[in-house]
Amino acid sequence: MSDADRLVAAARLARDGALAPYSTFKVGAALETADGTIVTGCNIENASYGLTICAERVAMFKALSEGFRQFTRMAVVADTDEPTSPCGACRQVLWEFGPELEIVLGNLQGETARHRLSALLPEPFSRRLLK
Ligand code: THU
Repeated sequence: MSDADRLVAAARLARDGALAPYSTFKVGAALETADGTIVTGCNIENASYGLTICAERVAMFKALSEGFRQFTRMAVVADTDEPTSPCGACRQVLWEFGPELEIVLGNLQGETARHRLSALLPEPFSRRLLK
């Protein structure tokens, strides 16, 4: 099994933990750090809807809070016909900490697609714009 396949498997497992009673759309994410550690996340919904947090940001915030700062790739798995791509808000958050992150998308049929985050978010807002 390749590193990317292992990451997709971890994201798929993480998806089982999703708290998605409103949308019933469960998502799992798995983030690989530079030292090979895998940190997972799932979407967590809230009755106020807008406070829902996506699986990708849960994984990234968990990893950051545990002290990780360098990341190589993230896998995202949902039950969709075509592999699900991260939402715009997640792209912006992921870009801040890993602009060259490889994003591996998967569905339950085992189909995958791969993208560089810099291709998914070509014109990010970044700290260089802050004066
Ligand atoms: N969701 C994610 O967790 N990641 C994505 O990339 C897209 C959307 C979640 C948010 C919400 O809980 C549900 O999927 C439906 O939008």
